[in-house]
Amino acid sequence: MATGNLTAVVFGGGGFIGRHLVRRLGRSGAVVRVPSRHPTRLGYLRTAGVVGQIVPELVGAFDDDELAATIQGADVVINLIGILAEGGRNNFGRIHTDLAGRIAKVAAASGVKRLIHVSALGVDGATTSAYARSKVAGEEAVRAAFPNATIVRPSIVFGPEDSFFNRFAAMTMISPALPLIGGGHTKFQPVYVGDVADGIMAAIARPEAAGQTYEFGGPGVYSFKELMELLLAEIGVNRFLVPLPWALARLQAAIAEWIPGKPLTRDQVELLKYDNVLSGKAPGLAELGVRSSAVELILPTYLDRFLKGGRLGRQGRTAP
Ligand SMILES: NC(=O)c1ccc[n+]([C@@H]2O[C@H](COP(=O)([O-])OP(=O)(O)OC[C@H]3O[C@@H](n4cnc5c(N)ncnc54)[C@H](OP(=O)(O)O)[C@@H]3O)[C@@H](O)[C@H]2O)c1
Repeated sequence: MATGNLTAVVFGGGGFIGRHLVRRLGRSGAVVRVPSRHPTRLGYLRTAGVVGQIVPELVGAFDDDELAATIQGADVVINLIGILAEGGRNNFGRIHTDLAGRIAKVAAASGVKRLIHVSALGVDGATTSAYARSKVAGEEAVRAAFPNATIVRPSIVFGPEDSFFNRFAAMTMISPALPLIGGGHTKFQPVYVGDVADGIMAAIARPEAAGQTYEFGGPGVYSFKELMELLLAEIGVNRFLVPLPWALARLQAAIAEWIPGKPLTRDQVELLKYDNVLSGKAPGLAELGVRSSAVELILPTYLDRFLKGGRLGRQGRTAP
């Protein structure tokens, strides 16, 4: 489906991945509706080069009537809504399973041609994590309601404003040590946010992507410890990397769950027990014509504010 003339509804379009996708859709000429609980905060989506239209819209109830009104007239719906920690009514089952299934059901009933549902890599194997189970159930609910949906499972996504490298980089500013949960052996295949957005754009454009499940990962596999080493080298600081046994990490998470924003939860610790790498059994970015970017190439473009000695620090390190 050519993206130029279409109307797209992007749930979660104001989020980390969403803003990259919304801008690409807008630049391709699409009319992009971005339903959000906070539409007035989405002014940053309206950036230079947009030839289509980006329209933030208020949603609150997320009941079927509101979803139908939001989706009406759309050619394509993309669902990027997700949470990492539960809180109040925002539990995994409601957001990842029930809401995902209902968006798919309403999209099918509204005659939407393409649905892109963003899940997460490795969730099918991570049976002891409630997050992972709700994502798997969400995929099943989406497939049942909209069999031709395209499901995208990204590994950990990095880029400006990510909550992975930025969070640990921020930690180096207040702590002499970084924790290696479970020893830091868990493997990841980090994927650049721009590549994820390009992959979704390609999935929308290619009819053969309908009904497929894609796994998105970057070109390299790294242990958690290797990612921390990479980060420290990039920002030019030395910190102790302290292995934290699973039981101790769980205890720390139980305390962190009481801190606003829940920086770490027991379920996240559980999820960290499983490697997060491409299974090799599903198509990925390459099949969509997207060449994935290496962490080493992108990290230097957005961690400037954590650089020891500012820009000069980096120049000093990289000078021949
Ligand atoms: N980032 C990663 O490393 C990564 C890795 C694997 C999979 N994923 C998946 O990719 C998707 C997008 O991730 P992201 O990193 O872009 O997430 P994000 O920045 O946290 O954005 C998620 C969006 O979900 C919406 N949302 C959150 N709670 C909601 C609720 N209770 N009701 C309605 N909307 C709600 C928010 O929209 P408003 O606040 O505007 O309403 C927000 O824009 C998610 O499904 C996530 O699980 C992400």
